Amino acid sequence: MNNLFPFESKITQADRFRLLHQKPKVIWFTGLSGSGKSTLATHLEAQLYAQNFKTYLLDGDNVRTGLNNDLDFSDHSRKENIRRIGEVSKLFLDAGLIVLSAFISPFEEDRNQVRSIVNPENFIEVFVDCPIEVCEQRDVKGLYKKARLGEVRNFTGITSPYERPLNPDITVSTHLQSLDESLTLLLEQITPRISYS
Ligand code: ADX
Repeated sequence: MNNLFPFESKITQADRFRLLHQKPKVIWFTGLSGSGKSTLATHLEAQLYAQNFKTYLLDGDNVRTGLNNDLDFSDHSRKENIRRIGEVSKLFLDAGLIVLSAFISPFEEDRNQVRSIVNPENFIEVFVDCPIEVCEQRDVKGLYKKARLGEVRNFTGITSPYERPLNPDITVSTHLQSLDESLTLLLEQITPRISYS
């Protein structure tokens, strides 16, 4: 950290808002594996794109095969995973984009760290709520079955904890609402916050 001299760009945030005609935000999806985070984030991104918003999607399975391929699912690695994604989200946010991040992000402390890295006013926490029994029944990736058989260790909700958000900005209950209903709710809540005026 010594002998470093961060410099400031000549382009201000206000310049970027004007050019891109939007207010950048980080839309942070948190929830169990199989709760629907990636599905919601990809569909929401498509709808925002159709409305001319400039977006970027960060997703657990993708980031973990690239930038974070040195990390496992220990508490320590999950913490580092989320810290790095928080920093990456901040860079895209500074570039003026609407960032959609879909990670289990099981720990309240780590989500709060991201909130402060990107500045609380830029952070929209979306809790994708779904009972573990339903996620396990869906078992889209077959990982719950493997976790029950002991073939996958530290599996969230089974052998590793998930801390529900205490005060999320938006809660979507994917076992009670259809995809279209959830998307309508998200768009209603989010569009006013990212629109340039
Ligand atoms: S996080 O806890 O560090 O936020 P992240 O969202 O990046 O997790 O990655 C979760 C994805 O990794 C899951 O959707 C699943 O496909 C896969 N995965 C593999 N092993 C595990 C595990 N032990 N616990 C949870 N997810 C796992």
